[in-house]
Parts: sequence; C-alpha cells; structure tokens
Amino acid sequence: MKHTTIFLLLISSTTPYNILVFCPLFGHSHSTFFGRLADILTEAGHNVTMFTPTIVDEFRNFSYTKLTKDVVYLDPSPKLKAIGDLIAGNSRYWNQEFSLNVIPETSRFFQSLANEQHNVLSENLPLLDELKKKNFDLILFETIFTCAIPLMDYLEIKAFALAHTVAFEASNYYTSYSNPEERIYPLQRLPDASFVFTNSNPYLDFPRATIAKNIQIGGISVSMETRKLGEEWDRILNLRNKNFLIAFGSVILSKDMPFESKVSMARAMKQFPDVTFIWKYEDSDTDKFAEGIQNIHFSKWIPQRELLADARLSAFMTHGGLGSVNEVSCMGKPSIMCPIMGDQMRNTKMLVRHNGSIEISKYDLGNSDLVEEVMRKVLYDESYKIAAQRLSDHLRNQPVSPKDLFLKHTEFAARFGKLSSLDPYSRQMGVLEYFMIDLVLIVTVILVILCLFLYFLLKLVCKMSEKKMKVE
Ligand SMILES: *[C@@H]1O[C@H](CO)[C@@H](O)[C@H](O)[C@H]1NC(C)=O
Ligand SMILES: *[C@@H]1O[C@H](CO)[C@@H](O)[C@H](O)[C@H]1NC(C)=O
Repeated sequence: MKHTTIFLLLISSTTPYNILVFCPLFGHSHSTFFGRLADILTEAGHNVTMFTPTIVDEFRNFSYTKLTKDVVYLDPSPKLKAIGDLIAGNSRYWNQEFSLNVIPETSRFFQSLANEQHNVLSENLPLLDELKKKNFDLILFETIFTCAIPLMDYLEIKAFALAHTVAFEASNYYTSYSNPEERIYPLQRLPDASFVFTNSNPYLDFPRATIAKNIQIGGISVSMETRKLGEEWDRILNLRNKNFLIAFGSVILSKDMPFESKVSMARAMKQFPDVTFIWKYEDSDTDKFAEGIQNIHFSKWIPQRELLADARLSAFMTHGGLGSVNEVSCMGKPSIMCPIMGDQMRNTKMLVRHNGSIEISKYDLGNSDLVEEVMRKVLYDESYKIAAQRLSDHLRNQPVSPKDLFLKHTEFAARFGKLSSLDPYSRQMGVLEYFMIDLVLIVTVILVILCLFLYFLLKLVCKMSEKKMKVE
C-alpha cells in the first residue's frame, strides 16, 4: 500500500489537467484505442472524461476503460443508428474490390456520420452544458469526427489534439465542400491541433519524412498485461503440438466468407493433423464445410491477445486490422495476412516487409493448395518465426515508449494550448511554390537563354573565321 502511494505521488508530480476524450461508439478498435488513451491519462493523475455517444448499439456491452470512471453516454437518433447499422457485419466486404476509388465514398460516409452526430449533439444541449462546467483544458478526438470542432467551441475548450487509429491519415482531407451541409464544419481548423497522434510505429511502419507535430504512438493500445487463459482454452492449446489462430476481427465476419473459401480453408487445415486450428467463427453452421475434420476448433469469441501471447500458439491468420497487426507484431508470432478492405491493404504490406508474414489475397482463399502452402511456411519455416521475434524485440525495447510519448505531449498541449510554432510554413504555399516549380522554371529559362546566347556567339565566331580564311 505504501509503495502505491509513493508511486502515485511520483507520477502525479505535474499539474492535473481536465481532459475530454471524445470517441463516438462506432468501432471496437477505435473505442479500444481511445479507452486506452483515457486510461493512460487517468493513471497519470488527470481528470479525464470519456464522452462516447452511441452509434453502434452492440458495443455498449463492452467497457473500454478500466481506470477512467467518468464515462458519458448519449443515445443515437434513429437516423444515426441507421447509419451505424451499415458498419458492422457487412458481408459485401468479402467480395468488394477496395481501391482508391472507394475513398470518396468512404469519406462521404464518415461525413454523414459526423453530420448526424453533430445534429444529435445540438439536440442535447443540457448534457453539453453539464460537460462545460468541467472546464476542460484539452479535447482529444479522431479526425473523422469533425463535429468535435463545434463541440469544442461550445464547451469553450481552447486546445485540441487529434489521435488516429490508423497508421496514415489521408482520406479525410479529401472531403469536398461541394455539399453545402459540410460547410458547417470548419475542416481547415484541423491543422490547428497541438499534436497529431498516429497509430503508427516507426519500428514497424514504412520510413517516411514527417513533422514534429506528428507523434507516432503505434502499438499503445496493445496491453502487455494479459489475463490468464481459462481452463478450457488451456485444454485446447494442449491438444496438439502446434496451434494456429484464425480471426478476421469484429467488423469482418468469418461466417460471411464465400462458401467455397470456407471449404478450401477447412480442406487445407485437414492436411495438418498435428496442428489445432482455432477459428473465430460467428455461426453454428460449420458442419456444412468442416464436418469430420477433428483439428478445427470453432469459437464465436476468442481472447485474441491472450492467445497470441501464449507460447503454445504458433501462427496467426488475420485481416490485417491495425489492432491485430500491432498485437501480432508485439507478441512476435509469424502470420498470414489476408487484407479485406480499407487500410488493411497498407497494414499488410507494412508487416510483410519485416519478413515474418505472408500475404494472401482474399480472392485466393478458394485455392486450397495455396492456402496449405502458406500455412506450411508460417508453421514450419523457422525464418518467419525468427523475423517475427526480431520485430517484437524491437517494439518491446523502443527508446521511448508510445505511452510516454503520448502522456508527455498531451500534458504539454493541455498546458500550452495551440502550438503555432510547430506549424510548417509550407502549409501556406501553393503547389508551384511547394514543389519549387517556380524555381525550376526560372533556372530553365536562364539555361535556355544562356544556350541560345552561346549558340549565336559560336555561329558568329565561325562566320568571322570563315571570312578571315576567305580573305587570306
Ligand atoms: C479533478 O476531479 C476532482 C474530483 O472530481 C476534483 O476535486 C478536482 O478539483 C478536479 N481537478 C481539477 C483540476 O479540476
Ligand atoms: C527481408 O528479407 C529481404 C530479402 O532477404 C531483405 O533484403 C530484407 O532486409 C529483410 N527485411 C528485414 C526487415 O529484415
């Protein structure tokens, strides 16, 4: 007890700040991420309020914060709920082509989500008035929820920081102003954020140039304190020599996978009698494609992090959601990445680059021989295991932990507010200036003039010498 008190005194040596974490409840991984951020701030002694208006009902059953007790909910309007229903468990993800051309569509979708959330907030001003009394120093939110800007103004919060659950944010700046409804959100104010936290980690991600305002805290939501696995899981892991986990996250459901892919996956698994396959599968219709195959264990829910952390688990197959990618990277398990949509394509390439993972296209899952081949590689080729372990070692021994980076920068932002000195001047430049096209043009013109001058000079000299020769 004494030790904890001293510890608490040590960590709360800075002034406590009032911080509002705004995270509408629409995605499991988003709420996990923001819940973790809230808890880190609470643990450090700050007064944190997590404001999480509901969009997708089913996530109300989860508690995303452990230490943060001040969690404020708000029910959705029927329209907002209807938009939310489009998100989870959509079977079209398995067949739909995801390329650049879906970005405007996705962007419009999130804009409508933010617009409707804005309407819900404006209809609940008494709740906002209660929040206002808490005199927040800082609000933290994700860029897609642009309605946080008018919320921040209403609550008279002077500073904000952005946090992204993705590794690289580009889509939201794509939003057009062609729709007059969108004009209520001053998007051009987003760059005023004191800091922009991204769920990207320099030891995992592609190297790239960035500015000091970008703080990379990728992997922060991967908790290393794993609970003990239950007896039933313990028994399952002890059944065979190796264990292989298959899970596609909470939005993309295995039960919606095309039937021929399920058959092909099950047939591939049958080739490994020495391996138990644990498959997160959300239905009980498995006898249609896996009947008689002994080594597959279907489960509607899995303790993913605990399983990945267990030494008996050999490999993992995932959709490449960033939460899963961060987890498997930290836990150091070889993996098969089967990206389905959105940023998963990028996350996949990012992880495969470290040589501990293999990518397989979702359209190739019907090819049983190929599935078997990649499974065999990650299960039995030691080089994948070694590479995955090396990445894990790097992540666990980062010079500055994502948690420290987040905490120190958030406290700095709460204390000093908007940090215009971190704004690069390039933001005010036009395309010509930014890419130095003006400079290149001037140099080119000078060079051309010089060449022409030399050409005519040479010509003149030649003529003169010819004349001279003639005269001689
Ligand atoms: C934080 O919350 C506690 C308890 O609600 C309150 O006593 C304290 O004044 C708050 N701190 C600040 C800085 O507002
Ligand atoms: C992955 O393997 C390739 C080819 O062997 C190698 O060039 C590259 O450096 C490796 N990448 C890492 C991160 O070790």
